[in-house]
Amino acid sequence: MQKANTANIPTILAILGATGDLTAKKIVPSLHHIFRHRHLPTMFRVVGFSRQNLSDESFRGRVREAVERHHAGTGRTPPKLDEFLGLFSYTQGDFTNVRGFGDLKGALDAVDREWGVCTNKLFYLAAPPQFYEAIFKNLAASRLTEPCSPEEGWTRVIVEKPFGKDLKTAEALDGLLGKLFREVQIYRIDHYLGKEMVQNMITFRFANNLFERDWGKDLIERIDVRILEKIGVEERGDFYDGVGALRDVGQNHLLQMLALVTMAHPVDFRSDAIRARREEILKSLRVFSKEETQVRTFRGQYEGYRAAEGVSPQSTTETYFKIRAELETPRWQGVPVILEGGKCMDQDAKEVVVTFRHPAPCLCPPDAKEHLKNRLVIHLSGREGITVQFWSKKPGITMDLEERSLDFFFKGADEDRPYAEAYEKLLVDCIRGDQTLFVSGGEVSAMWKFIDPIV
Ligand code: BG6
Repeated sequence: MQKANTANIPTILAILGATGDLTAKKIVPSLHHIFRHRHLPTMFRVVGFSRQNLSDESFRGRVREAVERHHAGTGRTPPKLDEFLGLFSYTQGDFTNVRGFGDLKGALDAVDREWGVCTNKLFYLAAPPQFYEAIFKNLAASRLTEPCSPEEGWTRVIVEKPFGKDLKTAEALDGLLGKLFREVQIYRIDHYLGKEMVQNMITFRFANNLFERDWGKDLIERIDVRILEKIGVEERGDFYDGVGALRDVGQNHLLQMLALVTMAHPVDFRSDAIRARREEILKSLRVFSKEETQVRTFRGQYEGYRAAEGVSPQSTTETYFKIRAELETPRWQGVPVILEGGKCMDQDAKEVVVTFRHPAPCLCPPDAKEHLKNRLVIHLSGREGITVQFWSKKPGITMDLEERSLDFFFKGADEDRPYAEAYEKLLVDCIRGDQTLFVSGGEVSAMWKFIDPIV
């Protein structure tokens, strides 16, 4: 992260849904981290907006709790906490009632007057998706989306997934967004794009010339992209039951990882160029017919799921899926791409596995049980890193082989940090105006076009 670019841009972040889970678990801890590492503009305020009737003081109390909870177990008091709390204030309002948005505008204008500048305004939709439409309309009706003038003070909006529940609803949502904002103002979050190892897929491929020259069907036999989690639906049964695994992690995280690992070389490293390459490869996903869906996809539900809180006892929602996808480009012709996601699995495996072709006939030792494969694994769970698996001669007088690996790991496993880091990076990028790690409208449509027939 670079510090310089955000330093002198007076900015207000309005969090719509300030008393929810996302704010407490991700947004606040991330803001605190980037605040104390001075990645936020020097003039920065946060205005929380929600239905609950809270004073500034009690809202700050919640923010304090969220930061302290995040630091629990470290044995240290969160640094610079009081100074951080000073950034926060609260405005009460209902998402479906324009009146509260008028009050919000009043609160933001007051900061502008206090500082004597026209600030940049960032609206973070941390609310359930059923409120998106009302929020957009009310933001517009109270003129919150209008910058002070074309030259002064940008307004941007951060939208969390899910972006719709199918192609139709996603396009309707985008149509609405498009009336209020230009694409350069819209920041659609897929937090996987903010993960170190996901960004590293771009670096690993394009900053090195180890494999890239032949990256495609001649070198690669198959690609597996998976998010398998030991956790079940926890306390999110209500939300999850209406969504399912495929929409929860397939339509977004898995496809974004797939895009980064298979996309063509971008023209340069500008955000538009990278997003265009992701969109291009996502558009090349073969859209299945009914018959293909039958043979290329599998869905399941873990035992005990129906007893989870918020889940219908007759639920048919999938908690697991596996898809054999295909990219219809000359580069990837015939290479199966296996997408797999699941809750309550017996292991945590969030990874991309690239299996390389092996020449046939194999020059393997005569008693080798299988054709020896080399694999490149990008690990996103546990220790984040990259492993290249290869075969080596066992020391000794025989020609026996053993599997070895070249490893690179970022750091020790640490439960919360990687997740929060993704949000930190994304928040800073949004303030800086870098859309590389945000999903474009075109990508969202391409992903739904592939997922819709399977759903
Ligand atoms: C979220 C899904 O988007 O991603 C969750 O809604 C899932 O169901 C989570 O557990 C996984 O993210 P991470 O960062 O923990 O790998």
